[in-house]
Amino acid sequence: MIFKGLNKYLSFSALIILGLTATLLISLPAISQPANITLRDLAQEQNFHIGAAVSIKALRNDPTYREVLAREFNMVTPENVMKFKPIHPERDRYDFTAANEIVTFAKAHQMQIRGHTLVWHRSLPDWLTETEWTREELMEILRRHIFTVISHYRGDIYAWDVVNEAVGCKDSLRKTIWQQGIGSDYVELAFRWAHEADPQALLFYNDYDGEGLGEKSDAIYSLVKDLLAKDVPIHGVGLQMHKSIKNPPKPEDVATNIKRLGELGLEVHITEMDVQIHNGTGTQEERLVKQAKVYQDILGVCLKAPNCTAFVTWGFTDKFTWIPRAFGQPDFPLIFDKSYRPKPAYQALVEVLSTANH
Ligand code: G3I
Repeated sequence: MIFKGLNKYLSFSALIILGLTATLLISLPAISQPANITLRDLAQEQNFHIGAAVSIKALRNDPTYREVLAREFNMVTPENVMKFKPIHPERDRYDFTAANEIVTFAKAHQMQIRGHTLVWHRSLPDWLTETEWTREELMEILRRHIFTVISHYRGDIYAWDVVNEAVGCKDSLRKTIWQQGIGSDYVELAFRWAHEADPQALLFYNDYDGEGLGEKSDAIYSLVKDLLAKDVPIHGVGLQMHKSIKNPPKPEDVATNIKRLGELGLEVHITEMDVQIHNGTGTQEERLVKQAKVYQDILGVCLKAPNCTAFVTWGFTDKFTWIPRAFGQPDFPLIFDKSYRPKPAYQALVEVLSTANH
């Protein structure tokens, strides 16, 4: 009798527990994780850096963003907050608040940091662009900027994008405030100052559209070769890799380019990869499969090259990406969807990392 009562009680409790579990499962956000494999674990096994650019807005406001970022990546690049304008808003004032938040997050989760970027012609404050400077004044401004920012993070930054997008279309430097105000030696000076400020940090030249073979990658190649010939402290080249399924890079050309940079003794990082799909053809599903292939090819090429040591995407969720705003239409260029569900591109990266031997 007692057992019969107990049985009834137990089956009633079991029903309640089952019900509660079901409710809990249904109300959980859709972050399904296949077989508990993460990109980060797989990259760690290969002694490889897998990273993502970080939006400060998302990091501050979205707990799932923080969770997925720390779970999947072992490297971060601040997407905007280390650029000249946000970090040096007035001539005699620096604002490290936002950049510090990303650095603190990365250190708390044992992630490496790529500093981005010290010398660029965009994201410059008005105080800098709206005044006529002499060569000496501009050199002093740039030297102090580089020294102050690098020194603030000395020991914390694994690699700096010291100079960003300096090469123009032809084999010459882009006409920027730096090139016109200082002269073409601003590139070499920037690397020398950066090295003085943190001799441990790896120093990179970073650019877009120079990933494969062609006029621009030849120009980047000559630039870094000349710098090395002058004993300028430069350790690597960042291949940004902003691509689309319509114009995917040729993997064999990227491999050849990485190899020739390696022969100069330089490392390569894939620094800003994303793959637009709005201008492609086919259904949404077909486009996502094409997108996955582009990611897969580039990570595959990188992992096969001993001097390609990091693969960083420009964001990781379609919820936060610069593409729709810049191109004026919806797009889905990253490896997680807006609800943080892994896309075919994510699965493709898992596959390449699982079978790689870096
Ligand atoms: O932070 C201000 C905010 O205060 C203001 O209210 C708002 C109004 O528009 O603008 C905000 O700043 C924007 C910033 O992104 C942060 O969202 C800038 O206007 C906008 O120009 C800026 O765009 C960034 C762009 O670089 C220029 O700095 C993109 O997010 C960023 O993804 C993009 O990244 C570059 C890499 O650094 C270099 N390689 C190419 C890549 C894509 O362009």
